[in-house]
Amino acid sequence: QFSMEKLLAEALVRDVPDFPKPGILFKDITPVLQDYDALRQVIDKMTEQSRPLKVDVVVGIEARGFIFGAPLALELEVGFVPLRKLGKLPYNRLVEEYALEYGTNTVEIHTDSIKPGQRVLIVDDVLATGGTAAAAARLVERAGGQVAGLCFLIELDFLEGRKALENYPIISLIRYQ
Ligand code: PRP
Repeated sequence: QFSMEKLLAEALVRDVPDFPKPGILFKDITPVLQDYDALRQVIDKMTEQSRPLKVDVVVGIEARGFIFGAPLALELEVGFVPLRKLGKLPYNRLVEEYALEYGTNTVEIHTDSIKPGQRVLIVDDVLATGGTAAAAARLVERAGGQVAGLCFLIELDFLEGRKALENYPIISLIRYQ
């Protein structure tokens, strides 16, 4: 029988020290993806917890938000919209810059991807400082959508990403203190 505890015990979320930079302990979720039962359970739990939010569309954040976002959208029977890093989307775009520890990053969304008033679920693998997710929420609102909630596999509590997202419902399946 699968459980989130078993997933952790079996190290399906793997800690990789000093990636992508020295001092960063990276949460590698690729072992979850390789394991059908684990992946199935993650998508099922995300589906169960996000269904009450009554979303009209799922927005996945590049890159690992795509992996969870698209199957979740299918389960919820709604469409999927990619939110991408600078320069990747081909059509008319809205652009948001956000601060990193050093420097900035930029995310984009197609102007016609969300219909006015649509309830949007934003999906990613990890909530860390919340900078990426907050920029995603701003883009969704600028595109005319309503952020119904955000859904993550992992939340790093000690980075207090929730504080950047305080107005929105947050789903996270695994939390690290
Ligand atoms: C990771 C993760 C989130 C973001 C969370 O992406 O997938 O998108 O960082 O960090 P934050 O809460 O501090 O903003 P990463 O920067 O590794 O980019 P990638 O998915 O394109 O590899």
